[in-house]
Amino acid sequence: MLKKLLAFQFRRPSGLLGYYAANFMKKNNNDYIAHVCTLLAVQAHDSVLEIGCGAGYALKLIAETTQCPRIDAIDFSSLMVKKAKKNNRQGVLSDRIHIFNADLLAYPQPEKLYTKIFAINVLYFWNDLLPYFSKIHGLLQPKGRLILYMSSPERLRKIPFAVDEVFNKYSVTKVESDLAQAGFHSITHEKVVKMGFDTYYVCAQT
Ligand SMILES: C[S@@+](CC[C@H](N)C(=O)[O-])C[C@H]1O[C@@H](n2cnc3c(N)ncnc32)[C@H](O)[C@@H]1O
Repeated sequence: MLKKLLAFQFRRPSGLLGYYAANFMKKNNNDYIAHVCTLLAVQAHDSVLEIGCGAGYALKLIAETTQCPRIDAIDFSSLMVKKAKKNNRQGVLSDRIHIFNADLLAYPQPEKLYTKIFAINVLYFWNDLLPYFSKIHGLLQPKGRLILYMSSPERLRKIPFAVDEVFNKYSVTKVESDLAQAGFHSITHEKVVKMGFDTYYVCAQT
């Protein structure tokens, strides 16, 4: 029961337990965030969207290390949006960082499509990948780039709170095949072993 309660906090953090989940992610996600930002290689002409930004640490790193004039992010947890705005106060105030409280599937089409989209540890919570990948495809410009970070099913099975009812344990093969079905091409992945288990940085292009 407690495991399931915790699992829901990673899917959509809220309340006191949500603060616990946010702190856990802060301690454990820094290396993924840094590597995703390296793979994204954001340039001054890019327009970037992060899906499921959590407390906004990846946004902060991109803002600090690139000249990108506009960085958008969405998260459907109002607690996480609040935290992400607090952690990126300067960027938000200067109109460079825009953080929206939205579910990806309901996110409106922007006036200008994105050149780069990324999501870190988010796809486990999507019960059917195809609608989400198709939505992301539609938000990207031609030759746009998507980067997803995910843990292997084997690694997720070692995490006590990653219960099956909440965490979909997708194989990288399944993710790549659904990306192709959604219209992506040039789909590759980089495998990084973390604490003895595989994790993946999946890259795809429109
Ligand atoms: C496990 S957390 C990861 C947060 C952050 N990316 C990190 O690595 O620290 C997953 C986040 O994705 C958000 N999320 C999950 N599904 C979403 C959806 N369909 N639309 C928007 N946000 C979503 C959750 O609210 C949560 O903040």
